[in-house]
Parts: sequence; structure tokens; C-alpha cells
Amino acid sequence: MIDFQGKAILVTGGTSGIGLETARKILEAGGNVIITGRTLSTLESAEASLAETQPDAPQRVLSVQSDTADLQAIDPLLEQIVGRFARLDGVFVNAGIGIFKPLADLTVEDFDKLVAINLRGLFFTIQKAVPVMNDGGSILLTSSWTAHRGIAGAHLYSATKAALLSLVRSLALELASRQIRVNSISPGYIDTPIVQKIEMSKAAYDAAAAQVPLSRWGESGEIGEVAAFLLSDAASYVSGQDLIVDGGLVGAHNFKGGEV
Ligand SMILES: NC(=O)c1ccc[n+]([C@@H]2O[C@H](COP(=O)([O-])OP(=O)(O)OC[C@H]3O[C@@H](n4cnc5c(N)ncnc54)[C@H](OP(=O)(O)O)[C@@H]3O)[C@@H](O)[C@H]2O)c1
Repeated sequence: MIDFQGKAILVTGGTSGIGLETARKILEAGGNVIITGRTLSTLESAEASLAETQPDAPQRVLSVQSDTADLQAIDPLLEQIVGRFARLDGVFVNAGIGIFKPLADLTVEDFDKLVAINLRGLFFTIQKAVPVMNDGGSILLTSSWTAHRGIAGAHLYSATKAALLSLVRSLALELASRQIRVNSISPGYIDTPIVQKIEMSKAAYDAAAAQVPLSRWGESGEIGEVAAFLLSDAASYVSGQDLIVDGGLVGAHNFKGGEV
């Protein structure tokens, strides 16, 4: 059902976790994929990882070292994509970081960094990609389950992700005349390298899993599967939506009352 034959899809933050596994699904479904990230060694290991599961990956993967926060880097990225594939059919604006601190500890530098990557860079990537994209394409933004709930210490991160829910609705309307669909995905607790980066303790990891009705963290591939669907023509009538993929977390209330 999901078919990317002949298409080219950009995945920002495509070198790790959710982005990498989405890139893998796109490749498996016959597409070309462009992955970005800031770290050269991670770009190289992502290319090697994709080649392990898709032997012709070197012909269909373009990896570009590019920092989403650097607005000057967007045009050169798009030029490389057009130079290599002569088309752009989808954009998964997924690159993002998390900074989780109590309100009193958040600095102006934290604020600027989070907004520069999670919102400002994402917004201008979309703005510049749209004129290059084919009509009938798809744009997908990575929001978060945290945009749907109040979480102490995650206020600013959640605010950057909640802004995306609003962007999706308005962009879906504005780009509908070109049949470009715009959606977001809100992952729940997903076990990706970001979890190591925020140095979560084993106790906190297990406590998080215990909040989830499915009693576990999700895997990147479980988000990649849904992201690939939303980017593909299989989702041709889905636009202006946020899809929460969280094992039931946001919909649950953790009251452990007696049996009914
Ligand atoms: N894991 C979760 O539980 C979870 C839940 C909800 C939402 N999310 C969201 O999902 C997205 C992907 O996160 P993940 O969990 O897959 O984390 P991850 O494994 O750390 O992947 C993040 C990716 O983004 C790239 N990246 C970070 N900053 C960038 C920048 N300024 N420019 C370009 N690329 C950048 C990283 O590569 P470099 O570091 O080399 O640049 C990497 O490829 C993020 O937007 C995150 O907020 C994650």
C-alpha cells in the first residue's frame, strides 16, 4: 500500500532514532531519501545502517550535513536535492532536541536553542521547500505527546511542539490548493538516542513505561511506519491532522481505582 517508487523525500534529523527508521521505511517502499543531521560521524553510520537493510541504498540515499538552526544552510540543501534527484515529493521536518529543566533553571540560551531548532528552523525549512516540492506532496512535522499534556520541567520543549499543531492546521489550508497535505505526528515515549542524551535514570525510564497502557516504550520503527504512511499517497485524504502514536499514553488517566 505504501509506495514511494520514483519519489524523493527529505527527512531532517534523519540520521538517528525516529528519522532514521522513517528513512528506512521510505527506502523499503522504493523511494529516494535525503537525510540530514549536524554530526558527520552519525551521518556516516546512518548511511551504513541503511545500506545493511537496503543494498542499493548508496544509489537512493543522499546524506547532507546540515544544521536546521542555520537558515543559510536551507537553500544549499535544497539545491543538492534537486541536483541529485531533480524532484522533491515530501518533507519530514523531524530534527529536534529536548531541554528539560525546572522553570527557574531555564536560560535565555536554552530558550533560543530550543526555538531555533524545534520551531524557527523547522518553519523556514518548510517555507523554502514548498516552492521546490511537487504538487500533491506531503509535509510531516514531528510534534510530541508532551504537546498534549502538562508536564513539569517540559514546558518550553512542549510549547515548541504545541506550536506545530497550530502550524499544521493553517499550512494544510494554505497549501491545499496545490494538493500538498500537511500533518504532524506526536510520538509518545520512544526509546531513541535522545533518551541517552537527556541522561534518564533506569528508575525514571521504568516509571515512564509504567504510565503507558501498553506498558513499554515504543521503538523508532513503530513511529517510522506511521510517518511513512502519512508521507505517502496511502494517506491521500489525510491533512491538517496530528496523529498521536504513544501506546495509549495521552488518552489514558492513571487513576488505579477498583474494578468496575
Ligand atoms: N524519543 C522520544 O521519546 C520522542 C517523543 C516525542 C517527540 N520526539 C521528537 O522526535 C524527533 C526525533 O527525535 P529522536 O527521539 O529520534 O532523537 P534522536 O535519535 O536524538 O534524533 C534526532 C535527530 O535530529 C538530528 N538533529 C538534532 N538537532 C539538529 C539540528 N539542529 N539540525 C539538524 N539535525 C539535527 C540529530 O542528528 P545530530 O545530533 O547529528 O544533528 C538526529 O539525526 C525530535 O523532534 C523529538 O523532539 C521524540
